[in-house]
Amino acid sequence: MAGSRFSLVPEDVPKVDTKYRRIATMIPVPESVPVFEDLERFESVSMHGQLPVFWDRAEGFQVYDAWGNKWLDFSSTIFVTNAGHGNERIRDAIRSVVDRPLLHTYTYASRERVNYIKYLVDNTPEQFEKAFLLSAGTEATECGIKLMRMNGFKQGKKRPGIIGFEGNWHGRTMGAQMMSYNPAQKEWIGYLDPNIFHVPFPYPWRPKAVEDPEGYFYENIEDLMRTQGLSADEDLCGFMIETFQGWSAAFYPVAFVKALQRFAREHGMLIAFDEMQAGFGRTGELFGYMHYGVEPDILCCGKGASSSLPLSIVLGSREIMDLPEIGSMSSTHSANPVVCAAGLANMRYIIEEDLIDRSRVLGELFHARLNAIKNRFPDVINYVLGKGLLAALHFNDNNGDPLSDLATRVSERAMRKGLLVVHTGRETIKLAPPLTISEEALLEGVEVLAEAISECLEGR
Ligand SMILES: Cc1ncc(COP(=O)(O)O)c(C=O)c1O
Repeated sequence: MAGSRFSLVPEDVPKVDTKYRRIATMIPVPESVPVFEDLERFESVSMHGQLPVFWDRAEGFQVYDAWGNKWLDFSSTIFVTNAGHGNERIRDAIRSVVDRPLLHTYTYASRERVNYIKYLVDNTPEQFEKAFLLSAGTEATECGIKLMRMNGFKQGKKRPGIIGFEGNWHGRTMGAQMMSYNPAQKEWIGYLDPNIFHVPFPYPWRPKAVEDPEGYFYENIEDLMRTQGLSADEDLCGFMIETFQGWSAAFYPVAFVKALQRFAREHGMLIAFDEMQAGFGRTGELFGYMHYGVEPDILCCGKGASSSLPLSIVLGSREIMDLPEIGSMSSTHSANPVVCAAGLANMRYIIEEDLIDRSRVLGELFHARLNAIKNRFPDVINYVLGKGLLAALHFNDNNGDPLSDLATRVSERAMRKGLLVVHTGRETIKLAPPLTISEEALLEGVEVLAEAISECLEGR
């Protein structure tokens, strides 16, 4: 919860016992409270805002604590466990490296690294000829910015301009934070990168963006050029695009992204997609950008790349990926063999088990049911956005004013009923079950969500 926390006072809640959920104790569990208090005492407060569930074990699409409670998970620990929690094939792959043992290699070669990179490149569109592995998503987006700027200077650009979008988010390290929009989150930096620019996002509630997405793109980009005195040919190296907006699951209109691609090609700019939340089947395509019918130059991935250990990826053409000289783009934990084994097993599982198609097909049912919820509560929910097994419910009143507090209460209520959702701290609740979820469990989760909303509105 942005700036605040959920209550740690245990409350009596109705007991739940279904095939997929079990709530057998007070919530939060009284025995878990001292553990949360220890965390508060010894760890930065910035880590504390999540639902007070103490994870002991997670398998498939369920999360268990040590006191007999069991949750249906609609979070995938924020878009990570696409192949399911504790996926057996991923565990086996990790174990085989751990038991050999080969726990770390820095940039020395390992069989795991070769196997993984080769599989990754072979199974992604052909413009991606090389990959570079890192640990965190924010490192991948930083790297995307670096590559676009290096490419721009090589092309003779005078300034390293990169354009992003209002409302986008790319990570917490300094460059990624600057590339992100949220002005309040950037105050600590004390200055702004004069070569990072943001243009308005074509939200579905902006009529002009809906009626004429292409015109909306050109109007705003031309406005930026005029007010900043920029020449696209000389000053702009690329676009950094979050495939859909993290907080809202809002996708761009297709015509908008196509216009952006045309503009980029005309002016020697690159396009980098931040696929952190959208990648690895989440939206019903291997990568979310595929919904737009464009060809990015750079892809920055993370989260669902391993369904487990810290792994992020940058993909691009040989020409782009070889811009940095030997040793100038590396990180101590890049391409750790254990992580590479997890990444390979994960991607294989997603492809071989058809999880991408599963996300698309189950996603249609998911969105139909969520839209039925929206229709049931039209005074408090005005949008259901997303694709595949990714959705966001937007809680707004009839004037369009955000109902963030209601979204928070619904998240907490759902947890008490045995369902975990992604609490954004804003007026949205995001839903992203592991792609392995069964139809029956998916529908049970949606029903629990509807009950949680109804109970919160009735003040129960
Ligand atoms: C779209 C997007 N980009 C970048 C990041 C940063 O990834 P990480 O937290 O792994 O650094 C996130 C994380 O939430 C994200 O959602």
